Amino acid sequence: MLIKKLHDNFGVSIQNVTVNSLSSNDKKKIIDLFEEYSLVVIKKQIITEQEQINFTKMFGELETTKPGTLGTNSNLVILTNIDLNGNIVDTSHKQSKNDRANQQWHSDSSFKIKPAQASILSGKQVPSEGGNTEFVSMREVYKNLRKDIKEKVLNLEAIHHFAHSRSKIDIKMVSQIEFKKFPPVIQPMVKTNPKNKKRALYFGSHTAYIKDLPKKESEDLLNYLKKFSSQEKFIYSHKWEQNDLLIWDNRSILHRGTYYNPKEPRYLLRTTVQDNLSKAKYLNLDN
Ligand code: OGA
Ligand code: MN
Repeated sequence: MLIKKLHDNFGVSIQNVTVNSLSSNDKKKIIDLFEEYSLVVIKKQIITEQEQINFTKMFGELETTKPGTLGTNSNLVILTNIDLNGNIVDTSHKQSKNDRANQQWHSDSSFKIKPAQASILSGKQVPSEGGNTEFVSMREVYKNLRKDIKEKVLNLEAIHHFAHSRSKIDIKMVSQIEFKKFPPVIQPMVKTNPKNKKRALYFGSHTAYIKDLPKKESEDLLNYLKKFSSQEKFIYSHKWEQNDLLIWDNRSILHRGTYYNPKEPRYLLRTTVQDNLSKAKYLNLDN
């Protein structure tokens, strides 16, 4: 296994390994790298959907894809601008809007009562230019926060709501089914990794507001944190090569897609592990 660092304090890439034939030592090594570096890029993995699912199982229990997303009811999320007939969709199409929604900084499934732990994304078809996926280590962000803000966020919780992030793209984007299935949840603003106890700031595009703060104060703090977290120096921007396989830790990392020419095909496949140890709560107790 050839391991290279990708950014100052997070992210590694691995070469000379095939996820279909990992020894138990290799598996342990990859899980250790994931826990320590939050992002693991494995190059040149030509694998089937089922092989990606099998590999994902070593991180935990898989999410079932929600309604309103390509791949619904399976363990796969299909992120693409290609429709079922093989044509590239128009920018007014829901799949194109999904792409744009993913171009906001977020942590996968933070709107769910069981948010995502690992996300595993394979690049099946990637544009020649743009369409990078970008990452920020929220451990680094947390570490670098001003002392008073660091202390403040430690005791705060925030409301995450799927309808909130989608409303920024199109107010009518969320179906009734999605709206009912995903009521607002309360998440801690700082997550602590149960294994190594490292802390990470936790918020993103699904975060609607901070609990128990006046509206203006919540807005100001979220805007400040958003600006602070997305500083150039914190970002690792992944330029896709076909058959890259990326694994990231949603408990300690934010990610977003970036713009690409919507006439170029892009097809990524995601499997997602749910965080069964998460401490999320429903906002409305009747849910
Ligand atoms: C994801 C995601 C961004 C992208 O797979 O969860 O947000 O670059 N992807 O498509
Ligand atoms: Mn995502």
